[in-house]
Order: sequence, then C-alpha cells, then structure tokens
Amino acid sequence: MEKILIIGACGQIGVELTLALRKLYGASQVLASDIRDEHPLLSGTGPYVVLNAMDAPAIHALVKKEKITQIYLLAALLSATGEKDPKRAWDINMQSLLQVLDIGVQEKLTKIYWPSSIAVFGHTTPKQNTPQETIVEPKTVYGISKYAGELWCQYYHQRWGLDVRSLRYPGLISWKSEPGGGTTDYAVEIYHEALKHGSYTSFLDKGTYLPMMYMDDAIRGTIELMEAPVEQIKTRMSYNISAMSFAPEEIAAAIQKHIPGFEISYAPDFRQQIANGWPQSIDDHAARQDWGWKHEFDLQKMTSDMLFHLKKQKA
Ligand code: SER
Repeated sequence: MEKILIIGACGQIGVELTLALRKLYGASQVLASDIRDEHPLLSGTGPYVVLNAMDAPAIHALVKKEKITQIYLLAALLSATGEKDPKRAWDINMQSLLQVLDIGVQEKLTKIYWPSSIAVFGHTTPKQNTPQETIVEPKTVYGISKYAGELWCQYYHQRWGLDVRSLRYPGLISWKSEPGGGTTDYAVEIYHEALKHGSYTSFLDKGTYLPMMYMDDAIRGTIELMEAPVEQIKTRMSYNISAMSFAPEEIAAAIQKHIPGFEISYAPDFRQQIANGWPQSIDDHAARQDWGWKHEFDLQKMTSDMLFHLKKQKA
C-alpha cells in the first residue's frame, strides 16, 4: 500500500494537494509536513508533523519509521521572495531536492513529485506558445534552481531509475490557501481586494500577459500525472501545462462583470522585470498527448468560482 509524505503541505499548493490525496488514498496514508504550524484547513483531516525540508536526517528517519513510499516535495522559495535572498533561495530549493532524491534512491521509493515552473524560461525563450523544449535562460534564482532541479530529476531517473515526475506550473490562483511570494500573486490578491475595497492596485502593468491556472486544474493535473502508467511519462524534465493566459486589465474586466464598480490601477514594482522575462502563453501538447492533460477552467469560469467561494468565506 502506498504511503505518501508531503513536504511543504501548508503552502499554496500543499494544502489543496494534501486534501485531494487524502480523499484518494485515505487520511492515514497521507502524512502532511511543513516547517510551520499546521494550516487550519488541514487540522483534523489526517496526520501532521513539523519538519524542516533542509533536515535530511529527520526526513530520512521519518520515511523509514512511517514506511513512506512516495514523497511530494513542495517546499520552495518562489520568484519574488527568492530575489530578496538569492543564496538562501538556491540553498533551500536545491538542497531539499537533492536530499529527497537521495532518500528516494536509498529507500527505493516508488514515486517522487517535485514542481517546476514557467520561471525556467527567460528573455531568449519564444514568448508565445512556448514549446516543451526550447531555449531556456532563466534570470531569477528561482528559475535557475527550478531548471537545475529538472536536470537533476532527469539525471536520477536515468542513472538510478528513480520515478520522479514534475510539472511546470503557470501562475496558480486559489481561494483556499494563500500564495507564497510569487510574481503571479497579483491574480489572487485582486479578487480579495475587489471584495474588500472594490479596487486594486496591480504590481504588474497593463498588458502583462502571463500563463495562469486555477488551483482545481493544477491539483487534478498533478494527481493525473502521478497516477499515469509509467510508460506514458515520456519526459523526465518537467511537463509544460497550461490553461489560460491574461493581462491584469482582462482579469479586472472579468471581475467587473460581477462587481460593476470595480476599479484597477497600476503601480509596477520589481516584479514587473521578472514577469517581462516569462512566457505569455505555453504549448502543452506533450502533456495532453502523453498522459491526457486537459484544463477545465478559463478566466470567466474561474472568476465566478473564486468570487463565489471568497464571498462565502468572508460571510
Ligand atoms: N507563481 C510562481 C511565481 O510567481 C511561478 O512559478 O513565482
């Protein structure tokens, strides 16, 4: 029987992925961990331990004690936070991955999941329909660590047969858990501010198109990738996946359909530079072909769902 350890379970992806995996595998089969106290939404839903993603001996001991067969390693510093302390971001993002890959080999884990990002791409990458394989020159330390990490995942697969799987997430938009210091966070903040103040000042400028995805799609895609038969996984780098692409004025227009007086203004900061180096849209036909990826949410459908749930949450 599979037993899953999630490292970084209290982050934006971690909370929802933990809940989804517990539904699928049973609460006791999914051990959630994070360096922080348990997220309120996880509390009472299954086992939880406080664990530092950098503490290899503690992770290794836990894997042995709990007879863990799969690890989802989600702990990371994202693009905007990473730029404030690049060396620390590199240490956290890389060291945690290499340690988990080693434990995977030593303990013969059946599968490992590790997320990558559109941040692997850079100014020299084609911006529209960015291909699965293309020029890759990331400018942020987050992007550099994600691309290096992809190469390590591929290396461990080739050298030791480790079944590591990965997705290059676009900006992720969710109402349950908060985003954690990324360049795409504006697309979450805007919904909260629309409901609270009826206005929002965007830290990305008008016309800044970025690939985005609703969390429901991201969680389903992650689980589908991990459940796919091994022969369907044709790349051991990370898969491009995409759902939608929009600029701040377009998400504002979608919100105005629900909140007519909503107003957006623009005050771009250092995150604009990061966004300028990323793709505007992603070609994900490899994921669609190899293991049947399909998105369900576009901008309109996501906006209705976000506002519905956030209103309910705030009521
Ligand atoms: N959402 C992430 C970020 O903005 C992209 O992977 O850093």
